Amino acid sequence: QGPCDIYAAGGTPCVAAHSTTRALYGNYNGPLYQVRRTSDNATRDIGVLSTGGVADASAQDSFCSGTTCLITIIYDQSGRNNRLTQAPPGGFAGPAAGGYDNLAVATAAPITVGGHKAYGVYVAPGTGYRNNNTNGVAKGDQPEGMYAIFDGTHYNGGCCFDYGNAETNSRDNGNGTMEAIYFGNIKVWGYGAGNGPWIMADLENGLFSGVNQHYNAGDPSISHRFLTAIIKGEPNHWAIRGGNAQSGSLSTFYNGVRPNVSGYNPMKKEGAIILGIGGDNSVGARGTFYEGVMTSGYPTDATENAVQANIVAAGYSTSGTGTPGGTLTPGSSISLRATTSGYTDRYIRHYEDDAITSVITSSSSTLDKNDATWIVRSGLASSSCVSFESRNYPGDFLRHQNYQLHRQPNDGSSLFASDATFCPQAGKSGQGTSFASYNFPTRFIRHYNNVVYIASNGGSNAFDNATAWNADVSWVVSQPWA
Ligand code: AHR
Ligand code: AHR
Repeated sequence: QGPCDIYAAGGTPCVAAHSTTRALYGNYNGPLYQVRRTSDNATRDIGVLSTGGVADASAQDSFCSGTTCLITIIYDQSGRNNRLTQAPPGGFAGPAAGGYDNLAVATAAPITVGGHKAYGVYVAPGTGYRNNNTNGVAKGDQPEGMYAIFDGTHYNGGCCFDYGNAETNSRDNGNGTMEAIYFGNIKVWGYGAGNGPWIMADLENGLFSGVNQHYNAGDPSISHRFLTAIIKGEPNHWAIRGGNAQSGSLSTFYNGVRPNVSGYNPMKKEGAIILGIGGDNSVGARGTFYEGVMTSGYPTDATENAVQANIVAAGYSTSGTGTPGGTLTPGSSISLRATTSGYTDRYIRHYEDDAITSVITSSSSTLDKNDATWIVRSGLASSSCVSFESRNYPGDFLRHQNYQLHRQPNDGSSLFASDATFCPQAGKSGQGTSFASYNFPTRFIRHYNNVVYIASNGGSNAFDNATAWNADVSWVVSQPWA
């Protein structure tokens, strides 16, 4: 059984079912998503390991070996062909050719589901998916429900990391023309208790945390690593619910009438579907999506509670993803050793204010050993990732600037936090660990001529050279020199 079997049994069937991680029906055996590799633009559908099961991530890994893959299609498992593809320009243009939004890097959000490796959809600002020509999705004031699983530690204050119902022309068509789940900590329109992030309803020209236009105390800050987020709406009635996708049950954060602001009752839903963007194609937000559905009809709480139990049983986890050969436990000291043949005695160290590699041995000076030692910190921009604080310059971190790595003091800015955050995954060469830049997820920490950069595999800079890239971006997390 999958979540959509539960919704169907409750009389509110899925009309869209999207996931890059698992089947959402017990009998689903089709493709989950499609990837495209940059080396030759070939595409490949990624299916399930077994009927109703988890994604076949190894098919992606072998197809994308030695190159970068982007997620081009997130298929609709409901049979209505409400698939998500690269979002077109609307009220705002995206950063890709023709004003389209970027596609997500297929390896940027590795996790496990039930012990099997899978990949989520990593939305860096500028990334977006959409379908403006759907089948069976609620329109006008028709009832609908939706849930999504997000990474509750990956968000920002940009507009708007959404999943759900939006305008079919990618423009702001006025209050009530969308109804989507929002997740993040933008406070421009609405907010709840604490400092965020919050689950809110994006109803157009407003993110709502409850009946009031701005503040509603009942909507808590919520940041489970795997977060179940729910919005549902029917005539003059809607609700916000949420919980931990790894354990326990759902809580209801709002259940009542439409907001006390004009234009939202009745609703004027248009029935497009968005992921990662606002209704007018605002592209300022970040987040990670693993799975989500939209239903026809207003699901009961009991149906959603059964869906939550199904999600918990699926077993989302971060264990077993990407730090083989070393521990990256926040608070521990480590050194990072190169694995490229001929350079395996070199470690990342700071020298003056730059990051370079140097040969370090037990007879190196104390200064060199200190310079080559880093304290692992929870990522300054996301606790899903890590930052590296200098051993002998406390408060200084490894950060990139113009793609080169330096040791610099944390100035507290969000740019510094992003530049100093790296997301570990299995080493690209098959050895050790590779570190994706948080804000440039196709770029990885790489040594080139013994200087350390964030490099893409092939690209316009000399340090993006594809030769030896896989080895140069693979590091052994080793015992600290100091
Ligand atoms: O409602 C918040 C945002 O406002 C919508 O997502 C977007 O369409 C508009 O800019
Ligand atoms: O950083 C040392 C070497 O420099 C790398 O292995 C290679 O890419 C470049 O020649």
